[in-house]
Parts: sequence; C-alpha cells; structure tokens
Amino acid sequence: MSTYGTLFRVTTFGESHCASVGAVIDGCPPGLQLSAADIQVQMNRRRPGQSDLTTPRNEKDAVLLQSGLEHGVTLGTPIGLIIRNEDQRPHDYSETDLYPRPSHADYTYLEKYGVKASSGGGRSSARETAGRVAAGAIAERYLKLAYGIEIVAFVSSVGKIHIPVSETPTSVDEEVDDAPEPLSEEFRNLLATISREVVDKHPTRCPHPDTAERMKKRIVRAKDAADSIGGTVTCVIRNLPSGLGEPVFDKFEAKLAHAMLSIPATKGFEIGSGFRGTEVPGSKHNDPYVRRADGSLGTQTNWSGGVQGGITNREDVYFRVAFKPPATISQAQATAQYDGTPGSLAARGRHDPCVVPRAVPIVEAMASIVVMDLLLIQKSRQAAASLLPPITTLPATMVMPPKV
Ligand SMILES: Cc1cc2nc3c(=O)[nH]c(=O)nc-3n(C[C@H](O)[C@H](O)[C@H](O)COP(=O)(O)O)c2cc1C
Repeated sequence: MSTYGTLFRVTTFGESHCASVGAVIDGCPPGLQLSAADIQVQMNRRRPGQSDLTTPRNEKDAVLLQSGLEHGVTLGTPIGLIIRNEDQRPHDYSETDLYPRPSHADYTYLEKYGVKASSGGGRSSARETAGRVAAGAIAERYLKLAYGIEIVAFVSSVGKIHIPVSETPTSVDEEVDDAPEPLSEEFRNLLATISREVVDKHPTRCPHPDTAERMKKRIVRAKDAADSIGGTVTCVIRNLPSGLGEPVFDKFEAKLAHAMLSIPATKGFEIGSGFRGTEVPGSKHNDPYVRRADGSLGTQTNWSGGVQGGITNREDVYFRVAFKPPATISQAQATAQYDGTPGSLAARGRHDPCVVPRAVPIVEAMASIVVMDLLLIQKSRQAAASLLPPITTLPATMVMPPKV
C-alpha cells in the first residue's frame, strides 16, 4: 500500500507524469518549528538533473506545504504537501506502449491492476520518492531537535568499484580462522565522522576521493554506452536512544529492511557486519560490554550495527542497501512485446545511468521515518508505564541494577 508507519504515518501519492506528487504525514508532534526551506534541502539532493551523472529531466521539486502548520509551527494535524511535475514528456515513452521494459514494473503493474499509467513508469517511477524525502525531512528535523540524532548516507560502491571497507584476508585456507575484522578501522572512523557536507563534495556522493573519481568514470562509461550500472548506499544513524524496535515482527532491523526494500530498484539489505560477519568466528564477532562514562553499558566493538534482539542499544546503527542497474536503457535489447511477439526495445526518454547518487537522500528519508515511528511507539509505551505506581517487590534478576 502507499502508507508506511504506525504512529508517524506517511502516505505518498502521485505518478511520474501526473500533475503533482506528494505526501500526507500524520502523527507529527505539534510544536515543531518547520519551514518549506527545511524540507527543500533534502529535495534538492534528490531532484533529477542535479549533475551530469543523473537523468536530465529538469524538475525543481519545490515543496508546497498545504496544511498542518501555521506561523512555521506544526499543529499536530496531518501535514499535506505537494511537488508539481513540471517537466513531463510522455511521448518519450511511446515504444513502451508495445513493449514492457525488461526488469521495469510495466508488465507487473499491468498484470496486477489490469490497467496502468499510460507513460513513464507511473507509480513505480522514482518520482514517487519525492514525497518520501519530504516526509523524511520532517521526521529528521524532529529527531535532530529532540535527540540530536544524525542520519548520513553515502555511496559505497558503483559496479565493481568499492570504497575500501575491510582488510584483505591473509589466507585462502578455509580451515584457518584468520579473516580480518569485518570492517576496517578506517571505515569505522568514516561511519563515526561522516557528514552530508563531505558526502556532497563529489557528484557521486562517495566520500572517498580516489574511489569517487573512479566511480564517476564508471557511470559515464555506462551512460556513453547507452547502458546503466548498479551500486550500494551505506547509511549511519548516530545518537539513537536505546530501546527502539518492536520485537518480534517489527524489530528495528526488520523495519529498516522493509523501508529500504520499498525504495525502487533495491535488491539487498545488510546491517552491521552483514554478510562479511559470517566469515569470522563468534569470538571475534561478539561485541563485549564496557561501562560508558555515564555508567550505562556500551559495547567495545559494534559488529551488531547498534541493534540486538531487534532493539537499539545506543551504539550507531549502520546498514547497506544494494541498488540494481536501472532498467531503462537506450541500447537495443532483444525482448518481447506485451502480446509475446519477439522484438527489440531501445528505450527513449531520460534516465539515470546509475541511481545511487540520488538514492542517498531517499535512504536517509526512509531511515528517518522508521526511527521516528519507532521512537513515538517507545515513548508512548514509556509514558503509559510511568503513570503506574512503582513496583519494589521484583527479584533483582528482573530489573536493571542501579548505576555505579
Ligand atoms: C533515485 C532513483 C532513480 C531511478 N531512475 C530510474 C531511471 O531513470 N530509469 C529506470 O528504469 N529506473 C529508474 N529507477 C528504478 C525504477 O523506479 C525501478 O527499477 C522500477 O520501478 C522497478 O522496480 P524494482 O526495480 O524495484 O523492481 C530509479 C530508482 C531510484 C531510487
């Protein structure tokens, strides 16, 4: 469906070539100082036409706030916002009247609904994500002001070109446990310090300058060959409180995975040490506890990625999302028409040769929405529990010991 969230509910609407796309955000706390300019910053990072590595479709993506705030303060009522579609060119897509684009959503939408938008991917287009990014910017503003939460995503790979993340294994002997730590110290430092200003220094949004240049060449090569290429986006969430996530089905990482895999073109999700963590034994992978300066428990390492048992533990959450090469390519591809007639499709139109530079703010937005929703749920549980008289009769093993 087009609505996400339990207490912070985001509904997006709109197709690639209709009058406007947008969102209705229900459950935003009242009293949040918010302006269209706060939202626009992230919209500008997502908009098409922002560099020669993205689609040339030229949309300003100006957010028009319709409801839910007055004098720059949220009212606690639904926030409605629209973003006009101004640069549609439906005629670009006339070949796709005959051909479903291979690996796009034309066939499945038509098969499912029995009718589809006449051009441009309709609801499956990344145009829909404009509403998500606007909603995410609102969530993020609350999270920043109330908790100092920081959410920063960046491009970690394009094609076979990866930002350096780990040391190389010292041995190929599968019986020897000498795999290095899942992530190098350099990469962990990057997660701890990365900022959006640094990410935006290069049009690829990869913060590792040498790698970024190689990625740029790779994207240009795909574009020049009328082809496309995939990549990954890594995201870190800092200053998260503990206790977020609703076991068992709505664990923190399950909600994140759901949200991330709802972004168009996503093909994979991993959190913490992820798939790399499977190569080291438990003795190297466990995160031993240490006392923090404030007396609470922290972990020495953070291979868990800030989540254990589906609940945040106050360490940084970090995760990675895989994006496939975009389906619409203008080089001719042997395929079949809707009626099965074999043929060849060279898709016209304006397309992203690689989606990851533009996917960065979308990943940040979905992470903000997930955190916001789980935070409101945990806060309402804690507020309800705090109204009860204290219990002093429980055995010591059932409660947290006092801090020393
Ligand atoms: C930021 C962004 C831009 C995208 N641009 C394009 C594009 O120009 N051409 C294309 O075919 N797909 C593009 N996509 C992906 C399609 O929307 C997506 O592949 C399609 O809807 C099919 O859905 P699926 O890949 O999730 O199965 C883009 C995705 C994102 C996140």
